[in-house]
Amino acid sequence: MGPGTSAVPRHIAIIMDGNGRWARSRGLARVQGHAEGVNSVRTVTRACRRLGVQALTLYSFSTENWGRPDGEVSALMELLAHYLEAERDEILSNGIRLTHCGEIERLPDGVQKLLLDLEEQSKDGDGMVLNLALSYGARQEILRAVRMLAAEVKSERITLDEIDEDLLSSSLYTAELPDPDLVIRTGGESRLSNFLLWQVAYSEFYVTTTSWPDFREPDLQLALDDFRGRQRRYGLTGQQVGS
Ligand code: IPE
Ligand code: IPE
Ligand code: MG
Repeated sequence: MGPGTSAVPRHIAIIMDGNGRWARSRGLARVQGHAEGVNSVRTVTRACRRLGVQALTLYSFSTENWGRPDGEVSALMELLAHYLEAERDEILSNGIRLTHCGEIERLPDGVQKLLLDLEEQSKDGDGMVLNLALSYGARQEILRAVRMLAAEVKSERITLDEIDEDLLSSSLYTAELPDPDLVIRTGGESRLSNFLLWQVAYSEFYVTTTSWPDFREPDLQLALDDFRGRQRRYGLTGQQVGS
């Protein structure tokens, strides 16, 4: 998108953080925070679909999250499997197209199958793209793209000069999606944690201290109101992009 700001972001990307702290502050196990977070996923997905957002990317599990205690990792994988089963009908009946980014080969076989089956079943959905970042790391994604392009050059399918920003963008998992207009991080930390490093070059950031399990439609509205007030200058002057 060019300079200026449109009312509704085309692509919203969310770093869904704070589940563990939400649970601990209530005397619950961390995994109960993740479970409650699934309700936020459902609510926010519905709201984005209704508002006309074209794509919603949810940072659900990072490459680095594999390093968490085994019990937490397996609980997250079970929740993911349960989510894919429970939300199937709603995803299909609302014209949502499910996609993923990340090294899903690392997910348990059963989860991979549920994910790929639902992606296939929902592939004609034209309501909104719901893109789950699973076993995702942006550095790993960029490295993968660089290796793919290097192999193309080596086999002389492309020349070095043909590698430009567009070609690199289209070698990323997110090739089909516009860059995020808005990145939301819940849980209060102001960091990217290896999320979409290339794609967020000119995204607007919105950080809230609200934890993901508490993040519901009014919180999304606050983020969207804030976004609406931004002037996206893309390196130009305020006068140039004039508003
Ligand atoms: C985000 O919540 C969910 C995942 C990273 C899978 P956390 O589990 O990171 O919650 P905090 O940050 O420890 O509170
Ligand atoms: C980022 O949250 C990853 C997801 C939300 C899936 P983390 O909790 O893993 O990030 P750090 O460790 O605080 O940077
Ligand atoms: Mg966290």
